[in-house]
Amino acid sequence: MTLTLPKWFDLHTHFRQGPAMASYVKAHLDMGCAGALAMPNTQPPVSRVTGTALADSWSIQSYSADLGAAGADVFEQLIVPLYLTRQTTAEMIHAGAATGLLRACKYYPPHGTTNSEHGMPMDDLIGGPVLSAMEENGTILCIHGEQHALSGPDYIDAQQNAETRFYTERMPRLLAAHPKLRIVCEHITTRTAAEFVTNAPAHVGATITPQHLLYTLGHLIQGLKYHLYCLPIVKFQEDRAALRKAVTTLGQTKFFAGTDSAPHTTKATACGCAAGCFTGGCAPQLYAMAFEEAGTDLSSAEGQSLFAHFLSLNGPSFYGFPASTQHFQMEKSPSQTTLLETPAGPITPLPLGMGLELTWRILG
Ligand code: NCD
Ligand code: ZN
Repeated sequence: MTLTLPKWFDLHTHFRQGPAMASYVKAHLDMGCAGALAMPNTQPPVSRVTGTALADSWSIQSYSADLGAAGADVFEQLIVPLYLTRQTTAEMIHAGAATGLLRACKYYPPHGTTNSEHGMPMDDLIGGPVLSAMEENGTILCIHGEQHALSGPDYIDAQQNAETRFYTERMPRLLAAHPKLRIVCEHITTRTAAEFVTNAPAHVGATITPQHLLYTLGHLIQGLKYHLYCLPIVKFQEDRAALRKAVTTLGQTKFFAGTDSAPHTTKATACGCAAGCFTGGCAPQLYAMAFEEAGTDLSSAEGQSLFAHFLSLNGPSFYGFPASTQHFQMEKSPSQTTLLETPAGPITPLPLGMGLELTWRILG
């Protein structure tokens, strides 16, 4: 079986900084990717719109130029969201939107994930001038939807977790205060978040990663498979089922690909584990496997249409740019992932870390 699909867009990925960027961009190009939204939690963060790179911050302009030099110049789209910090002003949003450089902003829960220490709490943003300016300019808010600073038992428990808390307590207030704000609920992991997005207005969408469609917390805990450790953490079976249902519902327009591929040269440390799964080079294969596990027949026209909407069509339409007119092909046949050698050191792709053989391969 061979699928011919429009080239796809990864609407949430991490290309980092420095000499390894080129390796990460190439891994994306090798998997039929036509463009990306490159996250701003670099070191230092992308927290200005224009100007040269400084010791404490990149601008969207300077970081995009570096990405371009690392090979991203061939992408049809490259979106770098502005990292919302205490220094972000409404004037930056208005001016940035006017230049065309600013298309999205990113909310990070302070200290809630990798390089998120510059984030400002959602409570301080809701009703404020920055989100109002974004609303006025049609700037998309990309949200890492987890309540920050929770104690262990509240962070994750059988009844609730940082994400369900965020979607039940913060999101309704955010939507009420900013009814026109375009929002992408990124890397959602729970039934609560999936249902929130489904029931929200059309200008609220969501990305879902391969790992959250494939795995549950049980897979992570059984053998402590730390390559699967990412944030938000994988959840329970009913959550995975809700995510699978969201992406395989005929006619759905709100859910689309965003891998959250996040390379870490060191995952396990002496006292913890870096959060992030690397899926560069293998994301469409993993998504296809997840669709099949969800019961989609990818040999049927209906199955292929569902898959194409999630992978290649809904994202561009939500972000407001054209889908790719180029195509790539995937074949149903086993393939292995290998370590990605980069100037920063080797990176373990998620399937390799999980001992998972891919059942699809990219033909190019
Ligand atoms: C991301 C990273 O490593 O930058 N990690 C992750 O677990 N997803 C940050 C993020 O998107 O939360
Ligand atoms: Zn991410």
